[in-house]
Amino acid sequence: MHYSVLEDQRKPAIVILDFGSQYSELIARRVRETDVYSLVLSYSTPVDVLRKLSPKGLILSGGPSSVYADGAPVCDSEIWSLGIPVLGVCYGMHLMVHQLGGNVEAATGKAEYGKAPLFVDDPTALLTNVVDGSIMWMSHGDSVRSLPPSFSRLAHTQNTPEAVIADPNRKFYGVQFHPEVVHSQQGMVLIRNFVYHICGCEPDWTTTTFIDEALRNVRNQVGKKRVLLALSGGVDSSTLAFLLHKAIGSQLTCMFIDQGFMRKGEPEFLTDFFDKKFDINVEYINARERFISKLQGITDPEEKRKIIGTEFIRVFEEESARLGPFDYLAQGTLYPDVIESAGTNVDPKTGERVAVKIKSHHNVGGLPKDLQFKLVEPLRRLFKDEVRKVGRSLGLPEEIVRRHPFPGPGLAIRILGEVTNQKLNCLRDADLIVREEIHNAGLYHDIWQAFAVLLPVCSVGVMGDKRTYAWPIVVRCVSSEDGMTADWSHLPYEILELISNRIVNEVEGVNRVVLDITSKPPGTIEWE
Ligand code: XMP
Repeated sequence: MHYSVLEDQRKPAIVILDFGSQYSELIARRVRETDVYSLVLSYSTPVDVLRKLSPKGLILSGGPSSVYADGAPVCDSEIWSLGIPVLGVCYGMHLMVHQLGGNVEAATGKAEYGKAPLFVDDPTALLTNVVDGSIMWMSHGDSVRSLPPSFSRLAHTQNTPEAVIADPNRKFYGVQFHPEVVHSQQGMVLIRNFVYHICGCEPDWTTTTFIDEALRNVRNQVGKKRVLLALSGGVDSSTLAFLLHKAIGSQLTCMFIDQGFMRKGEPEFLTDFFDKKFDINVEYINARERFISKLQGITDPEEKRKIIGTEFIRVFEEESARLGPFDYLAQGTLYPDVIESAGTNVDPKTGERVAVKIKSHHNVGGLPKDLQFKLVEPLRRLFKDEVRKVGRSLGLPEEIVRRHPFPGPGLAIRILGEVTNQKLNCLRDADLIVREEIHNAGLYHDIWQAFAVLLPVCSVGVMGDKRTYAWPIVVRCVSSEDGMTADWSHLPYEILELISNRIVNEVEGVNRVVLDITSKPPGTIEWE
C-alpha cells in the first residue's frame, strides 16, 4: 500500500529535494520544529508534481556528489521558473550556481570541513539576526568560484568567499554549510528566516492542528466501519490507539498478543492501562504456550525470529477472524519507516520515496502485505519526536511516551540459544532489576536502552558454603540518537554494584553479572 503525497489532505509548505545527503531528513525535522510542515521528495520529482503541491519554498539538500561528476543528480531546471523561493544547501547551492550560469570548482587545498566562523556581509533577509562570527558546520570539497548573474554574496568564511549567496529578487539563496546540524550555532535562525521571512509560511504545523486533522481524516476514511490495531505497548501503537479511540471510539478493537516474551508485569500493565483506565477495547490473547512450544530446540537467532514472526501472523489471522470481521487495519507506520526503508526506490510519478516493506526490517510483528484489510496509518507523516508530542497531548503517560525501544520478538532474542520458561523467568527478574535501578538513579531518560541478556553457559560460583554452577547475566546499557550507532553507557560504579548485588542475590539461576562495554558498530545493541 502506498499513499501518494498528492492524495494527502495536508500539503507540505516546504519541500526538501533530496540529493542523497545524510541530513535530508534532519532538514525536514528542523523545518517542522519551526511549526511548518515539510516533506522530503527525491531530487527527480517532476516539476508538475511540485506545481500541484505548490509549496511555499524548496530546499535543495546537500549530497555526496560534485555537480561536475558524471551522473551527478540534477533536478528539473524548470524549478527555477516556478516563482517560489529556493534555498540550496552545499550540493544544493552548487547545483543552483551551476544551473543558473555561475561556476563551481574543487576547493583545492582550501576545502573547509568542520566548524568555521561565518562573517556576515549583508545582515538582511536570510541572515537577519544571524550573529556575525557565529560558528557554522562546513562540509564540502567544492566551492563557488563565480556567481550566476544577479547573485551577490551575503557572507563569507576565512576559506570560502561565497559562503552565503542570494538573488533576492527571485528569492534564491545558497549556503555553503549545513544550517540543520546542531554544530551550526545559528542554523535555526537562518532556517526560520527562510521559512517565515522569505517563504511567508504560517506556523500551522502543531500538535493540536495535527490531531484535529488526523481525527477528521480517520473519521472520513473509516466511516462506521470497524478497525483492528495490533497493540504492542510501544509509543507508536499506544499513541495510535489513543488517537483512534478518540476518533472512532468503540469501532476500534486493539489486539494485544502476549507471546510470552514481554517484560515483567507488561501484559498486566497494558491491559489495565488501556482497557480498564481508558476504556479502550483491548482483546488480550494469551498465546504463550504456542510460541514457546514452537521454539523448542531452536538455537539459531534468525530461525527464532522467523518462527516468532510466522507464529505472530498466524495468531493474528486466527484471532482477527474470530473477533472480526474488520474492514481496516491500523498501523503505527512513521515517516522514517517510509522514507528510510524506501532507500532509493522512488515513485517516478511523484518523486516520493516508496517503502518496500510495511515496517522497518527489524519489525517482527510486521504483518504480511496480502491481508484483506485496508490500512489506516495516521502517523505515517510523523517523526518519532512528533509522535511523542502527539501521544503526550492525547494523555499518554510519560511512562509510555518516553519508554525505551523494545524489540518485537522481545526477551526471546535476549536469551541466547534455546528459549525455555525457566530462562524467561530468570531474565524477566534480572531485567526488572536493571530497569528499576536505572530508574532509581534518575538515569532512565539519559539512556537509549538498558536491559539484561541471558547467556546459556554455566560457570562456577560460591554462595554461602555452597558451590554454584549457574548462568551469567549481561547488563547492556547504551546511549544512542537513533539506534543506528550507539555507545555503551558509562554508568556510575555504585549503580553497577547495586545491579550486580541484587541480581545475584534475588534471581534464581544466576551467579555472575557482567557488563557489555562494546559500542555499535562493531557490536549491535541486542545480542540475539
Ligand atoms: P541492533 O541490535 O540491530 O538494534 O543494534 C537496533 C535497534 O533496533 C531494536 N530492535 C528491534 N526493534 N523489532 C523492533 O521493533 C525487532 O525485531 C528489533 N530487533 C532489534 C533494538 O532494540 C535497537 O533499539
